[in-house]
Amino acid sequence: MKLFQKFPGCGAEPRGLKEETKLINVKNLVKNYGEKSVLSGVSFEVKTQEIFALLGPSGAGKTTIINILTRLVEADSGTAEVAATTRQLGLMLDQGGLYPNLSCSDNLSLYARIYGLPLKRVKETLESVGLGDSINKTVSKLSRGMTQRLALARAILYKPKLLILDEPTSALDPGTARGICKLLQTLRENGATIFLTTHNMDEALKLCDRVALLHQGEIIEEGSPLSLCESRNALKTVPDLEAVFLELTGVAL
Ligand SMILES: Nc1ncnc2c1ncn2[C@@H]1O[C@H](COP(=O)(O)OP(=O)(O)O)[C@@H](O)[C@H]1O
Ligand SMILES: [Mg+2]
Repeated sequence: MKLFQKFPGCGAEPRGLKEETKLINVKNLVKNYGEKSVLSGVSFEVKTQEIFALLGPSGAGKTTIINILTRLVEADSGTAEVAATTRQLGLMLDQGGLYPNLSCSDNLSLYARIYGLPLKRVKETLESVGLGDSINKTVSKLSRGMTQRLALARAILYKPKLLILDEPTSALDPGTARGICKLLQTLRENGATIFLTTHNMDEALKLCDRVALLHQGEIIEEGSPLSLCESRNALKTVPDLEAVFLELTGVAL
């Protein structure tokens, strides 16, 4: 399975090029489904070691872009280049790719064997996504949020240099979602580059170095979340009920 292609000027190991190197380079993507135009000329870049999110409401075309990046879907025109080998790429597209009748641990152990990883990495990874108490649970018995965490664990198991995550926190409660965001930031600090989609603006504001806003098949704005808020005069203080709960109970929702 060939999920990627290197693009000109970028080696498989872009040592010494940290600041300049782009791991994802999308240019003028166009995709129609029959009469329906989904993407009408989308361009953006994801640089090494940044957390970049594609933001947009449901139906905006986020998953279509990821499907094109991972070669599951072919664009009508334009290019979508990913500078990572399959082994360097961690994907979380949906909750697929997990064996429902196996335990969390057995699911990851299968992949650990394929990639020649020590089995202690399985436990370590499950703990990092908050599934340390569910190591022996069968996947079919997990809640949706737990399955989502297991799918993320599978994506990060072999410490890929590029993570592509489609709505990684969509089925999670706010506390767990925050934990996942912290984990993503740690992975980035350890050298990973992260490209994700979300419709959670608040999460994107806290998590991302840069975001691109996708609307009606086009990127309508791009930049750091704070700079976008500043330029649109949107730095207002909003009531934060979650903070009240946290202050009163010491427990994150
Ligand atoms: N295989 C497909 N056939 C027809 N229409 C599709 C297909 N996949 C996606 N679409 C349409 O493309 C649009 C964008 O979908 P999607 O990329 O899944 O959006 P998002 O991930 O932002 O919610 C939607 O209107 C969806 O119905
Ligand atoms: Mg989607």
